[in-house]
Amino acid sequence: MIAVLLLVAASSLRVTAVCEMWDDRGFVGSRPIKTAPLSVTNMTCSGENGKLPYHVYKLKQLTSLELQGNGLQGLPDKMGKLELLTHLDISDNSLSKLPKSLSLLTNLETVHASSNALSAIDSLSTMFELRELHLGGNELESIPEAFSNIGKQMTSLDLSENNLSELPDIFDSFSMLHTIDLSANRLSDLPNSLASDAVTAIMLRNNALSEAPQVLEQMPNLGQLTLDGNQLSEVPDFLPDADQLVYLTLGSNAIDPESLLSLNSLGGLRTLSLDNNDLEYLPEGFGVGLESLLLLDIRNNSLTRLPDSLSELHLDYLQALPNNFCGSLPNLQVAVSSDVESGQEFDACPSTPAPTIERTPVTETCYQEDIKYKGELIPGLKSFLRAETTDDCHALCDASLVLETSRRILDKVH
Ligand SMILES: *[C@@H]1O[C@H](CO)[C@@H](O)[C@H](O)[C@H]1NC(C)=O
Ligand SMILES: *[C@@H]1O[C@H](CO)[C@@H](O)[C@H](O)[C@H]1NC(C)=O
Ligand SMILES: *[C@@H]1O[C@H](CO)[C@@H](O)[C@H](O)[C@H]1NC(C)=O
Repeated sequence: MIAVLLLVAASSLRVTAVCEMWDDRGFVGSRPIKTAPLSVTNMTCSGENGKLPYHVYKLKQLTSLELQGNGLQGLPDKMGKLELLTHLDISDNSLSKLPKSLSLLTNLETVHASSNALSAIDSLSTMFELRELHLGGNELESIPEAFSNIGKQMTSLDLSENNLSELPDIFDSFSMLHTIDLSANRLSDLPNSLASDAVTAIMLRNNALSEAPQVLEQMPNLGQLTLDGNQLSEVPDFLPDADQLVYLTLGSNAIDPESLLSLNSLGGLRTLSLDNNDLEYLPEGFGVGLESLLLLDIRNNSLTRLPDSLSELHLDYLQALPNNFCGSLPNLQVAVSSDVESGQEFDACPSTPAPTIERTPVTETCYQEDIKYKGELIPGLKSFLRAETTDDCHALCDASLVLETSRRILDKVH
């Protein structure tokens, strides 16, 4: 058995990479790099098993090299000789660093290097023609200041799933950048130089934002914003004015339900997710104005009912379970799919016990009163003294006034 396993392991190590190759006249064939004619311009390889043949650098006509998913642990030092390269895909390998010579590849327009183990990317700082840079799923803890040089043409930047706690303030020249993915880092703020009319999508899910970064206010064409998985306690102030917004996720935060009404001004919004916010209610009036909304996700909160105002939405999709619904839901207009039905009946809501007043005599005519709800003194409510006349309680405060205020707070709790 062991011998068989060893044999299998040994033979899989010997698998020869097969690359699909093209030159100016068309498809050259599928064969190992070693046998590539020097004329090839485009090459896509799989099955390299950890090591790229050293002589790949001889293929000087290459404009496009795709090496994704080959288990590569390093790239040959002479990679920098492939001066005509405009497209390089080295994603999904095991690269922990890039060869210095890569900085000579100044014609590169797209670099895909996601899903590796890169902690340093300095050799990319000379690539002035970059349009797209994908570095998601690496081990970056910082971005070099020298990246300020490579932004003029850049339209798309992916730095998701790294370990960035801040970004340098170097983005002034990135005037064409429209898509920025910063998901799954440790960011608590963003630099102001990201402000730009060009930005249409910014992904910030799973970071450490306790407030929305101010620079988001200076992205007037923002259409897509993901803020789920942060520590927001209310709907950010600028959102009601983000009138180009189409896609917004606020799930897995701790959003104050009362602040949700401010979203009503987003008439162009199509997708809104508010899942996992521990919401106990949606305020009455919520949804009025969300005329374009097609998908609403309110899963996994603590909602017991839905406001009647939701019946004004014309949704395609409603995702509403699990929650703590009781009684009947309002009429809902959902075209395609929902996990609850319009007017659906749930078990009756548990009747909430009335608050109780407990009296403890202080003197014969004066009592201490505690208003309790479910046997507990309500936080923020003081016990007070009550008697036939104030004098009976030794000139203590006007107890009836206190009682009135307490009752109103109780009604609200209820
Ligand atoms: C070869 O690569 C270039 C640069 O990325 C690209 O524009 C072209 O379409 C590719 N040609 C083929 C046949 O894949
Ligand atoms: C992220 O960076 C912090 C601070 O430099 C470090 O302590 C931590 O180990 C890093 N985490 C990962 C997953 O690399
Ligand atoms: C619902 O919330 C619980 C507790 O926060 C979490 O463990 C679970 O993954 C969530 N489920 C969904 C579907 O989001």
